[in-house]
Amino acid sequence: MDYKEIISDVESSQHLISMTPAEKLVEIGYTAGMNSNSSVLDLCCGYGEMLKIWNEAFGIKGTGVDLSKEFINEGEKRLKAAEIKDISLVCADVRNWVTDRKYDFACLCGEEFGGIEGTIHLLEKYIRPDGKLIIGTRYSRVDNPPVELIEFEGETLSLKDIYHIFYANGYFITSMATDTQNEWERYIMWSARRNLAAYKNDPNDPGLLEWCKKWYETYFGFRREYEVYGTFVIEKY
Ligand SMILES: C[S@@+](CC[C@H](N)C(=O)[O-])C[C@H]1O[C@@H](n2cnc3c(N)ncnc32)[C@H](O)[C@@H]1O
Repeated sequence: MDYKEIISDVESSQHLISMTPAEKLVEIGYTAGMNSNSSVLDLCCGYGEMLKIWNEAFGIKGTGVDLSKEFINEGEKRLKAAEIKDISLVCADVRNWVTDRKYDFACLCGEEFGGIEGTIHLLEKYIRPDGKLIIGTRYSRVDNPPVELIEFEGETLSLKDIYHIFYANGYFITSMATDTQNEWERYIMWSARRNLAAYKNDPNDPGLLEWCKKWYETYFGFRREYEVYGTFVIEKY
């Protein structure tokens, strides 16, 4: 067993705030046609880890935008340590950030603005006429998910509903990759450790303890069984 490889894999996975494993992101990058001439915009990029993975795998160039200064700073450190110069990260609210530049791929994973349709329209502003969109979103494994999941997450569509929204907006899914329980466990526990540390830092805030409790209960009671996370590459038909 290569322990160093396992630890480096865990370290990287903590910078990917997504339940699609890194190797599947490489797979969809490959099938979507990413190469060293490709430009990729990643809105809500977190640490910019998806851009880093696609740069290392295919040599893409790109821009990541995220609201969190903490994520952007840490992401920049990781890019510098890996000697990657073709990716720039910007700390901004994607609802106000604008650029004239057009990209081959525009991506938004793990957040949405105006549902999936609104997210498509946001991304379309930044792609070339033959560009592709990459959308990472959660969905329900069943047609009628439990009300507790909807109360926690808001509207929770099925995969069939998501397909219909893509289609109604002129797109077909041409690559897709879904989660694994392992990625969920890593993500839920990464977030739980951050939540618990915040509570320990401020034990007089009862709201923090309540949130920690809700986080675990919703995951073990509902999310694990009913929720799926998928990353979809879509292109115009
Ligand atoms: C679930 S994380 C996904 C991160 C990344 N896409 C990934 O898969 O690793 C959602 C990200 O959206 C960012 N975010 C939320 N609202 C935003 C906004 N209005 N503008 C920019 N970033 C935002 C958060 O800071 C967070 O990093």
